[in-house]
Order: sequence, then structure tokens, then C-alpha cells
Amino acid sequence: MKRIGVLTSGGDSPGMNAAIRAVVRKAIYHNLEVFGIYYGFQGLIDGNIEKMELGSVGDIIHRGGTKLYTARCEEFKTPEGQQKGIEQLKKFGIEALVVIGGDGSFMGAKKLAEQGFPTIGVPGTIDNDIPGTDFTIGFDTALNTAIDAVDKIRDTATSHERTYIVEVMGRDAGDLALWTGLAAGAETIMIPEAGEDIDEIINRLKRGHKRGKKHSIILVAEGVSSGSEVAQQIEDRTELETRVTVLGHIQRGGSPTGRDRVLASRLGAKAVELLLAGEAGLMVGIENNKLVYHAIEDALEKKASLDQEMYQLSKELSI
Ligand code: F6P
Repeated sequence: MKRIGVLTSGGDSPGMNAAIRAVVRKAIYHNLEVFGIYYGFQGLIDGNIEKMELGSVGDIIHRGGTKLYTARCEEFKTPEGQQKGIEQLKKFGIEALVVIGGDGSFMGAKKLAEQGFPTIGVPGTIDNDIPGTDFTIGFDTALNTAIDAVDKIRDTATSHERTYIVEVMGRDAGDLALWTGLAAGAETIMIPEAGEDIDEIINRLKRGHKRGKKHSIILVAEGVSSGSEVAQQIEDRTELETRVTVLGHIQRGGSPTGRDRVLASRLGAKAVELLLAGEAGLMVGIENNKLVYHAIEDALEKKASLDQEMYQLSKELSI
């Protein structure tokens, strides 16, 4: 193998640049040529491909977003789109590919692997919803962004004695909301995996209010409901004054944390190592701080749901 490609796809996540850098530098260190594919699978179909050098990935380790840009590509979900992609790879003499992204991107990687094209997936998403890895690239940064936001909201919630509902991203997964809630001391955390009952939440708010608790922070994972729907129910059924904050895409940006930079560097380099060893059709991950790999199709299963211990702890600490 002489030439590999790398792309980022789906929602960007902080640390993707560090992963691109690791792939490029590790490959060049081992005398491979590396081609960057712009705009994910869309760029692959369009042949938006360029050779990368050591300097192409200078000064990006600390930057959020992705230097290779990203896209969500419907066409690549079709066999025709995949065929076009494979033809472009052949045209550029690219013999293997590293795909950095979330589950949608892994689906594309799996399709390539099924068609016999050596592909390795690197998990990059703020949602932390990929099985086979304890953490995905970007989760830690998004978590710290969300904690910072909730800390700030707490100041004004306390001053005005209001109930704040903060809507957190995560698609169908509750990790970002749960970790943020635990770290920021939210009174209630609503996550899809737990099926929290709104009646119970309202009763708890009422009990707290009677006890003299004047403000509250409720974290709602977007996979449960919108913040405004939850606020409406609380206002309809209590005397509490509510405000809603949707953290939104702020969670996707910013300079990656040290943890995300290190994780991205380790995972990106491991992907190249696996390709050099002749492996393919895999995803890389981290479990108990050890680098691991699994069949890419295993990464497309639903993530073994909730960390019960952590969820229970969040409840016990917010009584
Ligand atoms: O998968 C990352 C993510 O930020 C999810 O948390 C969110 O549901 C989705 O992407 C938002 O997608 P878009 O950027 O296309 O609005």
C-alpha cells in the first residue's frame, strides 16, 4: 500500500482536525502518500481530492471544525453513489481510506468495506453514541462547553429565582445531557434512555418549591423533547417562572480539550497502523484507556444504553 485517503463526514466535532493531522503525519512517517477528500462522501463522489503534505496539517491541532470540511451526503447512500466514490478512489490511486465521523459516516465506511475497499472508521461526534468506544472525539469538548453554559445560566437562575430548562444536543443519546447534568449539578436530567416521567418531575419541582428551593436547572436531551415543550408543561401546571436555553451548535465548536486532542491523535494514528497491518472494515476506539478495534458493523448497533450507576448518582446528588 502506497497511498491512502482521509475524509471527515457528518456533523463536525472538536478534535477532528487533530485526528486528520494524526492520520496524515502517521502515514507520511511510514512513507505513505495521503490524499485529503473534501466535503466528506460528497467530495469523494465529486473527486474533490488533494494530496496532503506534512505542512497541510500544521496549526490545526487546536482548532475546532474540520479542515477537510464536511457534509451529509444522500447520494452516497445509494449503490450508484458508492460506485462513483470507488471510481474516484481508483482514479487517484488511493488504496485505502480513513473515515472520521459518526454513525452515518460509519454506514458509508461499511458500504465501502463491503465492496472490498479497505476502510477504517474513526469515531468523531459530540454525541458519544458509537458502540465499541468509551468516548468519541469531540464529546469532552462539547461537555465542557455545555458545563460552562449551565454554570452561567445558574448565576441568573439563582438571581431571578427561575426554573431554567436547558436543551442539550446528542441526537438519540443522553450522554451529553447526563454528563453535563452531573458535572453542573442540575436538579433534573431528562435523557431518552431513562424515560423520565414529566408528572414526577413536576411533583419534585413543587416539593422543592415548598421546601424553599427557589431556582432549578433542568437539562433536557434533544432526544427526549424540546426545551420549550417541557417549559410549557411546567408553566401550565405550576406557579414557577421558566426560561428556556437551547445550547445548539455552540456545542459543536471551539478549541478541542486536551482529552479530545489526545484521543483524536491516538485514534487517527491507530487507524493508519491498522491499514499498514493489512486490516480493513474496522473502527478504532478506546476502552478503559486502551486502544481497541471492532468490526465496523458492530459500531452501527445501538450503543449499550444508559450508565445506570451514573444516572442513579445524578439522582441521588440532586435530591
Ligand atoms: O450528531 C451531531 C449533532 O450535533 C447532533 O447532536 C444533532 O442532533 C445534529 O448533529 C444536528 O445536526 P445539524 O448540524 O445537521 O443540524
